[in-house]
Amino acid sequence: MKFFIDTANLAEIKEAYELGILDGVTTNPSLMAKEGITGQENILNHYKAICEIVDGPVSAEVIATDFEGMVREGEVLAALHKNIVVKIPMITEGLKAIKYFSSKGIKTNCTLIFSAGQALIAAKAGATFISPFLGRLDDISTNGIDLIAQIRVIYNNYTYDTEILAASVRHPMHIIQCAEIGADVMTGPLKAIKALANHPLTDSGLQQFLADHAKGTK
Ligand code: G3P
Repeated sequence: MKFFIDTANLAEIKEAYELGILDGVTTNPSLMAKEGITGQENILNHYKAICEIVDGPVSAEVIATDFEGMVREGEVLAALHKNIVVKIPMITEGLKAIKYFSSKGIKTNCTLIFSAGQALIAAKAGATFISPFLGRLDDISTNGIDLIAQIRVIYNNYTYDTEILAASVRHPMHIIQCAEIGADVMTGPLKAIKALANHPLTDSGLQQFLADHAKGTK
């Protein structure tokens, strides 16, 4: 499973990249605003800065909600760097834009996926990635992991190249469950990624090794 980090924070992206396990980055308008990145020029420069840190797909989201606007914005985003993936919302105008970008060889990430039907139709339009938001489904007492599993079955039944990018990951168990089900990619916060490395028995075992070594060297 590929690991993407879901943030627009450059320090966190660098830290994740230095762990040696980072394959890409996802952002969204809320994450950009959280970092105080506003205005067209600053936003475009920020995407370029992310692409300079990570050699892998970087999702950059359009703001327009009509086909022409999405195409216009997406073409500007795609021209920034070869690793930019144009992130497009799951609406009917978005499907048309995904089809357009697919025919041009520009990668897309269809975002705000909350049902298997949406995932199916986005794959048919030619999305490179689809982003089911599992944490936000959990938030409304619906099992988000069940949706990832359902999409996995559907995509396995056919020959869709579309990758399942499990999004809205909140904690390390989400990451484990995504890997068990066979999500192609997960995107989550740095905290959840780093938590995978922790185990109290590792910590106590290491302390014991170091203490025994210190005794032996006396
Ligand atoms: O980037 C999309 C998704 O990962 C958002 O996550 O935690 O805001 O539901 P969250």
